[in-house]
Amino acid sequence: MSDTSLQSQADALLHEAQQDTTDQQTFHQTYLSKRGRLAVLMEQLKTLSVDEKKLAGKTLNTIKQQLETIEHKKGQGLADSDVWTDMTMPGLQPSVGHIHPISQAMNEITQIFEKIGFIRVRYPEVDWEWYPFDSLNMPKDHPARDEWETFLVDNKFVHPTLGKMVLTPHTSNGQVREMERLNHQPPIRMINIARCYRRQADVTHTEMFHQFEGLVVDKGITIQHLKGTIDHFARQFYGKNAKSRIRPFHFQFTEPSFEVDFSCTICNGTGKVHGEKCRFCKSGWHEVGGAGMVHPNVLKAGGIDPDVYTGFAFGWGIERTYTLREGLKLDDIRLLYNGDMRFLEQF
Ligand code: DAH
Repeated sequence: MSDTSLQSQADALLHEAQQDTTDQQTFHQTYLSKRGRLAVLMEQLKTLSVDEKKLAGKTLNTIKQQLETIEHKKGQGLADSDVWTDMTMPGLQPSVGHIHPISQAMNEITQIFEKIGFIRVRYPEVDWEWYPFDSLNMPKDHPARDEWETFLVDNKFVHPTLGKMVLTPHTSNGQVREMERLNHQPPIRMINIARCYRRQADVTHTEMFHQFEGLVVDKGITIQHLKGTIDHFARQFYGKNAKSRIRPFHFQFTEPSFEVDFSCTICNGTGKVHGEKCRFCKSGWHEVGGAGMVHPNVLKAGGIDPDVYTGFAFGWGIERTYTLREGLKLDDIRLLYNGDMRFLEQF
């Protein structure tokens, strides 16, 4: 329990007491008795640190006096509005919220890509398996499907051509959907940000997480465009000295495929901090996700002629992209989603 949360509970308590219309005895019972609402708050003081306790203790004492004044007035048959108010007293501060750090990151990422002509889209998070798998060059029994620990929706209906219903395990399901939305007519410049789901939960994974997916299709698109776009994003999101690198990898839906690394924000990509090995990264780089040149079969699945058009795509986790920038090594990634104000208020 933090002192700010105790503070807002105390504010709420006083507010309710001021509206209270019960008689003196009931009022006493509710707010000031041994098991009353103030006693419950007092109980929470125990959980605070010494400094927090001092502050919160003071607040609760002031509130106690105010409750006693209301109680006293009730005895005289006066409503609390008749109580004399000292207008020079400092006001009670309302608690102010802010946007969740992951939503902040999503907004920033959207802006960076919109400025260079990408269009933000959203596609279903519960989708037919054809979009996240078959359309991406992974036929029914392809072993690559196992890499995405997918949740199946437990309904009896199987679509005759699109297959079973799944919680989409990556935002790549948006690729062919975007080709369809644009009537198979490039140019395409898509940024798809969505929740994804995988059967994996431990200190570094949550079953629900977020990805952003880029897709560009046009005549004459090359790896240079891909690398230029990634570099641009790195500089905008991580700072002007940030660098990116791409390493050969394998994905079914891109050829060639890469893994993308960004230079470490803590050691500036040098791997060293004050002559010692950087403890945040391995040798100056962080792996963030995948990318590559769209496989001809994916273009065909989206009704686009691979002899005329080429494209690139990339897909990264928002949680990882964001925590790297903040230099955050979370002991438990679930901190982002369990709604603990002591954690969230730091962002
Ligand atoms: N969808 C992949 C994943 O979740 C990441 C990815 C790799 C997306 C390569 C892409 C790509 O668009 O080209 O692991």
